[in-house]
Amino acid sequence: MNLLTQLRGLFEPVLAPHAGDPGKLADYLGMIRPAANPDHGDYQANFAMPLAKATGKKPPELAKEVVAALPANDLVESATVAGPGFINLKLKSDFLAAAVRGVATDPRLGVPPADPPKRYVIDYSSPNVAKPLHVGHLRSTIIGDALARVLRFQGHTVVTDNHLGDWGTQFGMLIYGYRNFLDQAAYEADPVRELARLYVHVRNQFKQGDDEDEGPTDDPVKKACQEETAKLHAGDPANLALWNQFMPHCLAEVQAIYDRLGILPFDFEHGESFYNPMLQGVVDDLIATGTAAVSQGAVVVPNAAGKVPTTPEELKKEEPPAIVRKRDGAFTYTTSDLATVRYRVEHFRPDAMLYVVDFRQALHFKTFFAQARRMGYDRVELTHISFGSVLGENRRPFATRSGGVPELGRLIDEAVQLGLAKYEESYESRKASGHDVPDLTDAVKRDIAEAVGVGAIKYGDLSQNRTSDYVFSYDKMLATEGNTATYMQYAYARCCAIFRKENVDPARFRSDPPAVVLAEPAERALALQLLRFPEAVDAAAADYLPHLVTGYLWDLAKSYSVFFESCPVLKAPSPELRDSRLLLVDLVARVIRQALDLLGIRVVERM
Ligand code: ARG
Repeated sequence: MNLLTQLRGLFEPVLAPHAGDPGKLADYLGMIRPAANPDHGDYQANFAMPLAKATGKKPPELAKEVVAALPANDLVESATVAGPGFINLKLKSDFLAAAVRGVATDPRLGVPPADPPKRYVIDYSSPNVAKPLHVGHLRSTIIGDALARVLRFQGHTVVTDNHLGDWGTQFGMLIYGYRNFLDQAAYEADPVRELARLYVHVRNQFKQGDDEDEGPTDDPVKKACQEETAKLHAGDPANLALWNQFMPHCLAEVQAIYDRLGILPFDFEHGESFYNPMLQGVVDDLIATGTAAVSQGAVVVPNAAGKVPTTPEELKKEEPPAIVRKRDGAFTYTTSDLATVRYRVEHFRPDAMLYVVDFRQALHFKTFFAQARRMGYDRVELTHISFGSVLGENRRPFATRSGGVPELGRLIDEAVQLGLAKYEESYESRKASGHDVPDLTDAVKRDIAEAVGVGAIKYGDLSQNRTSDYVFSYDKMLATEGNTATYMQYAYARCCAIFRKENVDPARFRSDPPAVVLAEPAERALALQLLRFPEAVDAAAADYLPHLVTGYLWDLAKSYSVFFESCPVLKAPSPELRDSRLLLVDLVARVIRQALDLLGIRVVERM
């Protein structure tokens, strides 16, 4: 049950004759929103101004007309026209009370199953695996994981696919490094560290300013590495054997980080190597269908206008052409992505494919989506889920003291360590001030610290609008007050503590819920927030924005805190009120837990 959907449903028949076409109607209905100022009502409708303009009426009159025509219903207590034509909507408290009681028995906490359910493929994390994961891999991994969880919770079918970079030039570098600079003992002791060292060592031998791209080079080391890559791609047995030897180590390293971050197991990990045998077929098809043409020995997909932009202005305006096979026979990132689309469409029949990748690849996705559409894949939604950078406290790209990119594993270690220190501090101070703190073993405390530290990193990231950059700050993400994982985890544990204190079993509130009484304003406000969970889930899914879930959690936590201050639960004035409040507390705990789970963040019962 989604309150907003119900409200819009109420207005729909009234607005339809005024709105004209259905697209407009949807826009006007979209202008019914949660109230900006709760003193004025629960929701507000802002369509009267634009609708009046379109119909040549005065906004307040039109608003009054609409209000008068609303059908009889149990939902709206009052609809009042204010100012230039806003409609303030207050819902009936009885309706809210009955609805909350209904949600208590619902394992989905009021979130309706998607209708119709769709099929999604989500491509995320997708690291180049020749080196350890670094901070740059954080966002794709956890945003993709959160989106998969949200869409699955809604009832969609989601195929998750980790498009590993397991076939690129880095492997040529590793092979070259292995042949020339291997420290055998170090490799046996810790293969991934040694491979990482080899990678950096080889990289440092490239001429200054030269990078790993595949372009022509006169740098002898880079050239040698490119030759190793080319041999690997051509199926050279010795290089393939080395690749097969490296891969399990690389994958185990990546998996260890996923486990720690609580990333759901991927349905598929079809990396670039998986598509290698299909690339020539894709190029042949492109040529056969006239989508691509041979130009100066290379195979090129022209842009939509059929031309190759030459000036920088043209390049900006028009999508560039894509090279799918270079003159030397090598395939490109685009070829591989086109093969991937084809494979996914044939095997998974998705309605939508989401690519959770850094904003720097925006142009790649823009052009390759256009090419995929021209290949005939024009009915599947293709969306680049872009995200900004992680910055250091100096607002520059986040770097270690020595200037390198921080390894993700180290960042997690540090967050967990700081989380433990903070937790112990708060534990001791709560104990000293006579709070009822549980006795916990060191192992349990370490588990709490892991949940707190990992949760802090994830929530700190997911609570930002993904399209913005953000500053990575342990202080901010581990703060015990404010919109942080730690705050939500404490709120959850506090709810659990209420039940533990007097040995109340919450099961009763779920199977046979008592009547809900919304006497105090704080109770009513909390009930309204609880009923908004489906709105938050819908909004987050509609625009693929996990921060709408954290924004919701923050609103819920604030309502809960006001409720907690002003409404005694265990010492409520009557048994009916006590039961009703216990039901609300149990629902708060369940919604927090579920919302955090949608973000891939764990809670603990005692803190
Ligand atoms: N491995 C790529 C990189 O690290 C990201 C791949 C994203 N997915 C895709 N289908 N292109 O830049």
